[in-house]
Amino acid sequence: MADTMTEKSNVKTIDPAKVKELEPVAANMVRVVFLPEGKVMEYEHGSLPYKHHGRPASILDVAENFDVFLDHACGGNCACTTCHVVVKEGANLLNEMDDDEADRLDMAADLQLASRLGCQAVVEKPGQVVVEIPSWNRNYVSEGGSSKL
Ligand code: FES
Repeated sequence: MADTMTEKSNVKTIDPAKVKELEPVAANMVRVVFLPEGKVMEYEHGSLPYKHHGRPASILDVAENFDVFLDHACGGNCACTTCHVVVKEGANLLNEMDDDEADRLDMAADLQLASRLGCQAVVEKPGQVVVEIPSWNRNYVSEGGSSKL
């Protein structure tokens, strides 16, 4: 699949198999890759406008800024698990998980060691973060579902 640019010049879609072939992230830039769609977005660390869902600069906030759909039934308040993502790369660039997030994640379907709540996982350092939106969530939404608390 050829790379295609979306309407936003700083968002592109790549073949998910080619994530490892991306060039190194420039100094003081953050790159977030959402799988399996292969949506790639970059911004200068500390420059992301807050979109009022989840913690500022969280994975959910990044998704909202760049029009990537990440469900967030509770509005980003750590009160559901619909923003569940699996961190494939860059976990060391994220904030530490607190007890509230850990307790909530325990209720998530398909919980994995690298699971985080997108609304609570904040990108604190420049670099590349790769997250996967679990298939159960994608499938549910694509079938017309809407998550509830
Ligand atoms: Fe509900 Fe993240 S949106 S916990």
